[in-house]
Amino acid sequence: MPINVTINGRRHALDVDPDMPLLWAIRDVLGLTGTKYGCGISACGACTVLVDGTTAIRSCGTPVSAVDGREVTTIEGLHPEHRHALQQAWIEEQVPQCGYCQSGQILAAAALLQATPRPTDADIDSAMVGNLCRCGTYPRIRAAIKRAAGTGV
Ligand code: FES
Ligand code: FES
Repeated sequence: MPINVTINGRRHALDVDPDMPLLWAIRDVLGLTGTKYGCGISACGACTVLVDGTTAIRSCGTPVSAVDGREVTTIEGLHPEHRHALQQAWIEEQVPQCGYCQSGQILAAAALLQATPRPTDADIDSAMVGNLCRCGTYPRIRAAIKRAAGTGV
């Protein structure tokens, strides 16, 4: 039985092993390479995507069968013109350094703003603690989240 999943608004019937990590399906089967492989053990956040538009999950540690019948949003689908408030704030604050972690950072921030539209510093720290950045862009990530939420700048 195929896995039926909607990714970035497009329905797919994936004929894959149900235990395949969702990250593999996103990157290798569907060719959406904006979602990154960092650790593969749900410990860094580079592979973060949204399920049903609101919940941030680690796609490396999620079997594709877990999203059967659900909607997944990757960085490519966050906004049709890549102009989500977070994406614009990321540009304005010049957040990325190497950029590798940033897709996951933005998707985690998107889930945060869905749940808490005007987050405090503590809210941001709590929501983003699992998304690591080896370049240390954390202060700019926080500033960009506040900018997108209208609580910074
Ligand atoms: S690659 Fe998934 S959490 Fe690190
Ligand atoms: S920008 Fe390089 S790891 Fe975050």
